[in-house]
Amino acid sequence: MGQTTPTPASATERRDASFTAAAMGAAWDRAGWRALPRVQMPDYPDAAALGLVEGQLRQFPPLVFAGEARRLKAGLAKVAAGQAFLLQGGDCAESFAEFSADNIRDTFKVMLQMAVVLTWGAQLPVVKVGRMAGQFAKPRSSATESVNGVDLPSYRGDIVNGFDFTAAARIPDPQRMLQAYTQAAASLNLLRAFSTGGYADIHRVQSWIADFTDGPEAARYRDIAQRIGDAMAFMQAAGVTSETAQELGQVQFYTSHEALLLEYEEALARIDSTTGLPVAGSGHMLWIGDRTRQVDGAHVEFCRGVQNPVGLKCGPTITTDDLNRLIERLNPANEAGRLTLIARFGAGSVGDHLPRLIRAVEDEGASVVWSCDPMHGNTIKSASGYKTRPFDSVLREVREFFQVHEAEGTVPGGVHFEMTGKDVTECTGGVRAVTDEDLRSRYHTACDPRLNASQSLELAFLVAEELRARRTGTKGGLRHTG
Ligand code: PEP
Ligand code: CO
Repeated sequence: MGQTTPTPASATERRDASFTAAAMGAAWDRAGWRALPRVQMPDYPDAAALGLVEGQLRQFPPLVFAGEARRLKAGLAKVAAGQAFLLQGGDCAESFAEFSADNIRDTFKVMLQMAVVLTWGAQLPVVKVGRMAGQFAKPRSSATESVNGVDLPSYRGDIVNGFDFTAAARIPDPQRMLQAYTQAAASLNLLRAFSTGGYADIHRVQSWIADFTDGPEAARYRDIAQRIGDAMAFMQAAGVTSETAQELGQVQFYTSHEALLLEYEEALARIDSTTGLPVAGSGHMLWIGDRTRQVDGAHVEFCRGVQNPVGLKCGPTITTDDLNRLIERLNPANEAGRLTLIARFGAGSVGDHLPRLIRAVEDEGASVVWSCDPMHGNTIKSASGYKTRPFDSVLREVREFFQVHEAEGTVPGGVHFEMTGKDVTECTGGVRAVTDEDLRSRYHTACDPRLNASQSLELAFLVAEELRARRTGTKGGLRHTG
């Protein structure tokens, strides 16, 4: 691959000399992944240009503070223990073209609404993690893409190459890492401002939810919205307001992305001055994709050494032996909140895989968060030719996930969605039904189809009903829509 690291020694570099942390298990070095087999990463044609960008990124400030990553880990430890619920969501791939304050605000807004509805359903705090401010690199099922007999390298996310179907756009360009960093920094800045500056006040969020349930289509969710409104009116009357209780006026919102482009991740890794341990500075939580979770591969090696919470996508091909070894590698100290297993099997297949994996985890006494990604196992090609996901399949996979956990006596800790706050037409179904024919009208995703704002909130209502039913012992589970 010929990567070089030609930057001159600086204070940061000298500090990096201490980047070997024995405390997290076997000795680890931020560049150790380079010696191991890698998949799904670009071959940069210009090694010198790559080295310069890496050098620049190493000088830049990290995007997150290690204390925040530890606070998220503590939140996830509560999820693992059944004392909180995880909501993770956002774009499949953030893009440079779709970067705007409105897009960030709208996704954030829907996630807040979902969180309030889920808080009601679970009667638990909801840990909110965006697939935002760094979710740029994409694994692809095929290395090349063919259009009208022309073969080109696949698009791998805006941090790697361009979406346009031209040979020039598809050449991996390291400069894109700098643009991704800048976009992530600006996105995170806005998210932090929204989180604490008054925008996220629960009273506003509650009024948005009430607006959603106003239409005739959403009649069935009105009852829940009403009950949430009643609970808030009661608190207000009892003197609990945003002025008296800070929790009502602000939220803690975290960022996450797939740790796929390891040159970028390595360059943003830092030593946390509080603990002396390495931390990924690119986002609060990283995850390892279903295609890059080789036990002895580069991605597992990098993630092993950073103290951030780490997610691991678990698709149908993962063996129980793989899972055991991955748990040992990624969480040798069995630290609660460190590891989130994100199950993504597809509707109808959860029962074939999740029980064996849950048993493997239980047999080892491993502490994990179980989360359900009902998106990636349910992608189909619609009759109109678009890649889509039927809302009912998404819902069905979530329901199966809850059922299996109930049967096994384990904690269904959270959900992981590809979603946007925009009114796109990428997934079919939902109360404001998107049909196959509608897909072409507002199909904007740079990669996989996302739930739109209405579908996302509807799903939250349905999951809340499920959580409520399980909590109160009234079986019944999720109802189908339509
Ligand atoms: C994703 O989350 O966008 C993704 C590619 O998922 P997976 O690795 O589970 O296929
Ligand atoms: Co995706």
